[in-house]
Amino acid sequence: MQQDSFIPVFNWAIAELTVAERLETLKPLWKHIAPLAVPGGRALNLCCGSGAAAFLLEEAGMAVTAVDSSPRLIELAREEARRRGSAVELVQADVLGYELEANNYDLALALGNPLLDFPPERFGPFRDSLAKALKPGAHAVFEYYDGVVSHRKWSEPAERITEREPEEIASRYLGYEAALGAFKLELHNRTRDEKCIYHGYVYTIPLLRQLLAPRFTLKRSHSLSDYKFLDVHVRD
Ligand SMILES: C[S@@+](CC[C@H](N)C(=O)[O-])C[C@H]1O[C@@H](n2cnc3c(N)ncnc32)[C@H](O)[C@@H]1O
Repeated sequence: MQQDSFIPVFNWAIAELTVAERLETLKPLWKHIAPLAVPGGRALNLCCGSGAAAFLLEEAGMAVTAVDSSPRLIELAREEARRRGSAVELVQADVLGYELEANNYDLALALGNPLLDFPPERFGPFRDSLAKALKPGAHAVFEYYDGVVSHRKWSEPAERITEREPEEIASRYLGYEAALGAFKLELHNRTRDEKCIYHGYVYTIPLLRQLLAPRFTLKRSHSLSDYKFLDVHVRD
């Protein structure tokens, strides 16, 4: 049986993942995404967090389904949907196991680097089910960070406070597990006194593109920094 991919840290209060904060931080990306919206079409927002991108897609005239495994973030998205009278369909589910309707979507987004959370053995089935859900020629937009740089950033310093408000979260680097291809962090929410282990899979940008290549053609890449990219793929 496949394990559920719920990641406890995303159920903690993290200021940078609130809708208001993401509406602000998404601005530099949105100029690349907005032209891909299909008014009257259907969009899929994978690993949607608190739903900021989903609401922007709805404003652009799309009917949106947004999926995330974190109950807390989906609840924040539902609160925002009620506040704005939104019809975005918000689903709390693991995208690696979620059944998507075939040939149904004109656009898919996965922003904020969620691919780093996907174990390599689940990447191929995820890619194939996403491709099946998209109409031929539909765009799939991924924001991804180079995993080697992410690994270095989390390992130095090995111990740090990553959040202070509204909950204090400390991280401790536990090393790199070559057999998993992942670095390991212990995250301690000091406000709740809860701990969890987080695995960050070390994908590089060319590797991610190769993993997507059997079903998608890379159309455009926007460099967001020296290690962050927003790639626009087309479903073959
Ligand atoms: C860094 S956050 C980014 C959230 C949102 N996309 C944004 O840009 O604000 C990564 C998100 O991916 C979600 N996630 C990671 N793996 C997932 C999975 N297998 N299924 C559903 N959601 C997942 C987490 O719950 C979290 O909300």
